[in-house]
Amino acid sequence: MSERARLPLPFVLIGAMGSGKSRVGQRIAASVGAPFIDTDGRIVERHGPIDAIFEREGEAGFRTLERGVVADALREEAVISLGGGAVLHPDTRDDLADLPVVWLRVSPEAVAPRLRGGTRPLLATGGMAAWTAILAERAPVYEALADYDIDTSRRSVARIVEDITERFGGTR
Ligand code: S3P
Repeated sequence: MSERARLPLPFVLIGAMGSGKSRVGQRIAASVGAPFIDTDGRIVERHGPIDAIFEREGEAGFRTLERGVVADALREEAVISLGGGAVLHPDTRDDLADLPVVWLRVSPEAVAPRLRGGTRPLLATGGMAAWTAILAERAPVYEALADYDIDTSRRSVARIVEDITERFGGTR
């Protein structure tokens, strides 16, 4: 009989831009047979491209739209990847206090090629220097919210998924 990993749901991934939240989240969801929600993807579906939202409404406007999407997502029995800055909203931090949360860490060396050529508005002018500064600011928040953290820099997605499902689930 095949055994499938299981996880408490909703199950949430947080971390810096490019840390692998979407790739890892998708694979975790597939391995436990749960829906996957990428909050950035939902924002785009509901409100259009993220860079256009930043241009039109600034970061504050984006955070308000993001909070609406995140609040809805966190009510679903799903594996959920949050945009890197979603934890800046105090209501989201409150919501996460009671949920299983994993912080995906990544080194600047590993993330640089992943971010190259991207359209993330917060990196548009500052590039890797901006990424590093933003992470330094947010790391204490990620740390405080996370029940577990794992470095994605040099691990395969399969290993990361296995590690997380073993830590939180077991099999059924
Ligand atoms: C942001 C991260 C992005 C996206 C937006 C802002 C941030 O998501 O929500 O560009 O503030 O860190 P990813 O973490 O999926 O790149």
